[in-house]
Amino acid sequence: MKLVVFGANGQTGRLATAIALNAGHEVIAVTRRPREFPLAGPRLTVAEADVRVPAAVGPLVAGVDAVVSTLGVSFTRDPVDTYSVGTANIVTAMRDAGTRRLVVVSSTAAFPTRRSRVPLSLRLIEPILTRTIGKTVYDDIRRMETIVRDSGLDWTVVRPSGLFDLPELTQYVRGEADPVGAFTARVDLADYLVAVAADVTTVRRTVIVSTTEGTPSLWQMIRREAGSGNDTGTQPVPAP
Ligand SMILES: NC(=O)c1ccc[n+]([C@@H]2O[C@H](COP(=O)([O-])OP(=O)(O)OC[C@H]3O[C@@H](n4cnc5c(N)ncnc54)[C@H](OP(=O)(O)O)[C@@H]3O)[C@@H](O)[C@H]2O)c1
Repeated sequence: MKLVVFGANGQTGRLATAIALNAGHEVIAVTRRPREFPLAGPRLTVAEADVRVPAAVGPLVAGVDAVVSTLGVSFTRDPVDTYSVGTANIVTAMRDAGTRRLVVVSSTAAFPTRRSRVPLSLRLIEPILTRTIGKTVYDDIRRMETIVRDSGLDWTVVRPSGLFDLPELTQYVRGEADPVGAFTARVDLADYLVAVAADVTTVRRTVIVSTTEGTPSLWQMIRREAGSGNDTGTQPVPAP
């Protein structure tokens, strides 16, 4: 399979790229910072593009089997439109190119529901985060989902919960309704993104991915977030 990964230089994107390469796929990894991209290999093309620029997106999605988006923006009080504008550009480019399979990362926090096995502390804090410092990000994630749903493409929306890092894949849980938890390991999310790109049974579905092993406490999560910013940090990337 030939895949394009937008957000490939992010923490989940790097893992998804490595997992796809390890699985024998061809990958076009899209980033605004190609010189900082840590992977190389015969089946990998690193493409420099800003997803906000339609002319840069168009050529990348032609002739591929699937497009995966792990685009992300840090919490900010400023307006955010990278998810919606970027995804609209990807959708338009895919329609023009006749490429149909689209998998995008969203977030459970943008669509709050009462999830089982979510600690009370998180249930109390999450709505505060999503209405204050995370508001502009989650507003735009909701706009992105609408664009994807209305795209007419063969889409799957994948919603992780709070992302954290684990060195190894786990027996993660996925499903359409309340599959368990408060957290998702990036390696599990990345594995699912690559798997689902080839899985037509998930077309036009929204899937939640949950990790139930090795999950952090809410306090550990907050400390990590405060310490990490939004850079592509310390998560080891499996060798392609
Ligand atoms: N953090 C959480 O707890 C959490 C929870 C639920 C869902 N999510 C979602 O999960 C996804 C992955 O998160 P992550 O932490 O792995 O991501 P991340 O490390 O923040 O990476 C996101 C990547 O998006 C790329 N990007 C941003 N603007 C772009 C633009 N204009 N053009 C091209 N690329 C652009 C950046 O790549 P370059 O700078 O290299 O271009 C960046 O590396 C995101 O969609 C996030 O919203 C996160």
